[in-house]
Amino acid sequence: MNNNSLEINKGLINFIQASPTPYHAVKSLVCALEDAGFICLEESSEWKLEPGQGYFVSRSGSSIIAFKTGNGDLPVHGFRMVGAHTDSPCLKIKPEPEINQYQYGQLGVEVYGGVLLNPWFDRDLSIAGRIDYRDTKGNLGNCLINFEKAVAVIPSLAIHLDRDANDKRAINAQTYLPPLLTQTDDGATFKLKDMLLDYLVKELDLEDAEKVLAYDLRLYDVQPPSLVGLNDEFLTGARLDNLLSCYVGLESLIASNDKHGSLLICSDHEEVGSVSAAGAKGPFLEAVLERVAEAFSYTNSEAKRRMLDKSLMFSVDNAHGIHPNFPEKHDDKHGPLLNHGPVIKINANQRYATSSETSAFFRQLCEDNNVPVQAFVVRNDMGCGSTIGPIVAGELGVKTLDIGVPTFAMHSIREMAGSKDAAYLATALTAFFNR
Ligand code: CO
Repeated sequence: MNNNSLEINKGLINFIQASPTPYHAVKSLVCALEDAGFICLEESSEWKLEPGQGYFVSRSGSSIIAFKTGNGDLPVHGFRMVGAHTDSPCLKIKPEPEINQYQYGQLGVEVYGGVLLNPWFDRDLSIAGRIDYRDTKGNLGNCLINFEKAVAVIPSLAIHLDRDANDKRAINAQTYLPPLLTQTDDGATFKLKDMLLDYLVKELDLEDAEKVLAYDLRLYDVQPPSLVGLNDEFLTGARLDNLLSCYVGLESLIASNDKHGSLLICSDHEEVGSVSAAGAKGPFLEAVLERVAEAFSYTNSEAKRRMLDKSLMFSVDNAHGIHPNFPEKHDDKHGPLLNHGPVIKINANQRYATSSETSAFFRQLCEDNNVPVQAFVVRNDMGCGSTIGPIVAGELGVKTLDIGVPTFAMHSIREMAGSKDAAYLATALTAFFNR
């Protein structure tokens, strides 16, 4: 690993650790953007934008768009855009979650997205998310919460009680998953909202918080990401899909010049289909682009259409590396290797938005910047995943490319990437923004 990789991996590890939920990811992005001089915009306020300045705007607290207006003519040069997602598959706490049985306090959980469930057992879990509460004056407020310490665990059933566990263990997501949080005295019951209110008042100093009304809370693994391998070849951690792309997109946007308009969108709800006010299938990106155009007095639809026609979107989301224990799961000509650079994702049925034109653009960009490139096509006898790429292309009509770093164990509680690939991706994305 060179110095560039070391530095970017260090930043990425800190970013992932500080971002257990999409809300925290947006908060981490906002902190970095503010440090870099980007100005916060509210959707509810009037926008007055300057050329050569960076701005950001968030929606629902879990999606964010950051952009540099650049010094060029937007209808002539368009926006160079990078898209990623803030959410990861996980277990969310149900609204009436308490299960009190055998003097254990447990929580009912809902499965968010395509979770690989097996690795969630026997991990040290914490809780983070957003709390919505009422204060003593009757006002509604909300805050982010992160217990940081391990407060829950989902114990496996011992193999002695399930002799077939290694051959055919199916997981019943309703009954097997409720984690244990506490042990109660005989007859006493554990109440989550009481515990949360106590935390708000005592730990977050929200002394006028009176009642927790609702929340969006998730379980996460407290083990920080780490470099692994005899020579630190690998990076393991939760939420590499897709906080790796969010972080690299952020660093690349900050490092980019102000020649043309450049933009990073990190959306929530990708793992559940992107249909929401804050998701990529909602109107967030279109609304922001429209307002930027109008702020620079490109008010007629012709100018906006020209801007979109000149724009290009890189949808950046992790790819599947060929797994040495399961090589039969890949087309043998399209098995990306960890540490061999970003992967261009191609699908004839438009599950990925890459065209030969956008693919050629990226290959040229990488060649010019000494970044190795790989290609992925799913086997014809298997189904294909998707990304926000086809969604954005379909909604805006913008030319789009699907790329991402190769990984193993996607949607596990602990995923794995190559330790060189974040730096390769950063070089490519910065060059794209600067082009
Ligand atoms: Co993803």
